[in-house]
Amino acid sequence: MSSPSPRDKNASRDIEAPVIAQGTKKGNAQASDINDAKQTKKVFIKTYGCQMNVYDSERMADVLSPIGYAAVDAPDDADLVVLNTCHIREKAAEKVYSELGRVRKMKETKEAEGRGEMTVAVAGCVAQAEGAEIMRRAPVVDMVLGPQTYHKLPEMIAKVTRAKGDVLETEFDTLEKFDQLPTTRDPKGFSAFLTIQEGCDKFCTFCVVPYTRGAEVSRPVDQIVMEARSLAQKGVREITLIGQNVNAYLADAPDGSGQWGLGALIRHVAKIGGIDRIRFTTSHPRDMDDDLIETLGSEPKLMPYLHLPIQAGSNKILRAMNRDHTYAHYKELIAKIRAARPDIALSGDFIVGFPGETDADFEDTMKCVEEIGYGSSFSFKYSIRPGTPGASMPRQVPEDVKSERLKRLQDLLYKQQTEFNHSLIGRTLDVLVEGVGRDGGQLFGRSPYLQGTHFDGPESLIGTIVPVTITGAGRNSLTGEWTQTE
Ligand code: 5AD
Ligand code: SF4
Repeated sequence: MSSPSPRDKNASRDIEAPVIAQGTKKGNAQASDINDAKQTKKVFIKTYGCQMNVYDSERMADVLSPIGYAAVDAPDDADLVVLNTCHIREKAAEKVYSELGRVRKMKETKEAEGRGEMTVAVAGCVAQAEGAEIMRRAPVVDMVLGPQTYHKLPEMIAKVTRAKGDVLETEFDTLEKFDQLPTTRDPKGFSAFLTIQEGCDKFCTFCVVPYTRGAEVSRPVDQIVMEARSLAQKGVREITLIGQNVNAYLADAPDGSGQWGLGALIRHVAKIGGIDRIRFTTSHPRDMDDDLIETLGSEPKLMPYLHLPIQAGSNKILRAMNRDHTYAHYKELIAKIRAARPDIALSGDFIVGFPGETDADFEDTMKCVEEIGYGSSFSFKYSIRPGTPGASMPRQVPEDVKSERLKRLQDLLYKQQTEFNHSLIGRTLDVLVEGVGRDGGQLFGRSPYLQGTHFDGPESLIGTIVPVTITGAGRNSLTGEWTQTE
C-alpha cells in the first residue's frame, strides 16, 4: 500500500448527486425488550433526496428490525410511517408537506376502520431545518428526528407510545450515531451505499447542507471495513463510498502510521474479498488530491466514473458561491484525472440563475460544458434556501430567465450524454447483473459508467459481473448482448 496523503481539514466539501429514491427494505422481525416484540409491526420508509438519505433509510430499517418492525412497500397499513426528507431545494421540502396530507388521510382511515394506530415520523434534513415547526404545521407528525439521531428511533417510539406525546430529536453527534448503529447490514441487492463521511463546513452560499448535516466528520477506517465485510458476506459486489464531501475523508490509519485520505481508504477496501467494484461520491474539486487521482489510475476495482460538480463556469459566480476555486483550476484538474485514467467518464452538478448571474456568466457555464464534456449530469435552477447567504443576495434572477437557461444547458448536457452512450456501441463492458428488467424477460444491470443495461441471459447470472457487448444506446440506458465466455 502506498503512503497515505494527509490533507487540509478545512478544504472544501461537496454534496452527493441527487436521486429520488423510494426505498424500503425487508427486515426480519426479532425479539425485543422495548416494544411488543412478539407482534410483528410494519414500517414504511419513504426516501427523498440524495444517496445519503437512501443509506440512512436502510440503516433506520436495520435499527427497527430488532424491535419487531418489518419494512413494507406501502404506507396504508403501516404501524410506523417515516418520511426521510430532503431540504436541498424548495420543491423538495414542499413535497414533504403534501405527502404528510396524504399520510394524515391514511392514518384516519386506518384508525377509523379499527386497523390499529399509525405513528408518523419526519426524519432527514427538513426535520433538522424545521424542527418543531413541522409538528405545528402538520399535527399528524408524532416524531421529528434529524439525520444524526435516527439510531435513537426505538427509544423515541417507546416515548411516543407510552406518553402519547410528540418527540423531537435534532442534536448533532454523527460519531455517536455511527457507534450505535448495528455493525452488520441487511442489503437489498448486489450494490450498496456505505457512508464514510458526513457533513460539510465549506458553506457554499446557495447550500443548506452545512446547516442540516452539521460539521464534517469522517468515520473510522475499522468501522467502514467491518461494514464493507458484512456487505460482502451478504453478496454485495459493488460498494459506493458516500459522503457530502467524500474526498475530504481523513481518518487515523488503523496501523498508527498517520492519517488516511480517500485514496488510501479505497485501496484498503479494495482488498476485501467479494468486493469487485468501488465507487465514491460526491467529490469537491478542491479536495481532489494527487493520491486520489493516482488511485483512480491504479486501482482496477475503482470504476471509471467520477462525479465532480463545478456548479457554474464563471469565475465571478464561483466566487459568489464561495466555491473556492476557478474554472481554470477545475479544467487543469480534469486534465490530470484524464491523464491518470483515460477511460473515465465525468458527471457534474450545475446551478443556473445564481444571484448576479448575467447572460455572459451563463455563457461561461455553457463553454465549460462544451470544453469539459460530460457523460451524465444533474442541473438545477437556483432555489432560494432560507438562512443561506444566497437568499439575501441582490440581483436575484427572474424565474423565466432561469427556465430558459436551464433548458439551453440541459439540451447541451443531454446531447453529450446521448453521444457518450452511443460511443459505447460495439464495446464490451462488464455489467453487474442486478435482476430481471422491468418488462420481464431481459436481465438488467449496471455498466462501469452506471448506465442501466438490458440484455438477454439466464437468471443464474443475477449477482455476477458479465461481459456485455453494447448494441444500442439511448440517453439513459444501453442494450447489449451477453458475450458468453465458455
Ligand atoms: N438551488 C439549486 N440547486 C442546489 N443545489 C444545492 N443547493 C441548491 C440550491 N439552493 C444543487 C447543487 C448540489 C446538488 C446536490 O444540488 O448542484 O451539488
Ligand atoms: Fe457541497 Fe457546498 Fe453544499 Fe458543502 S456547502 S454540501 S460543498 S454544495
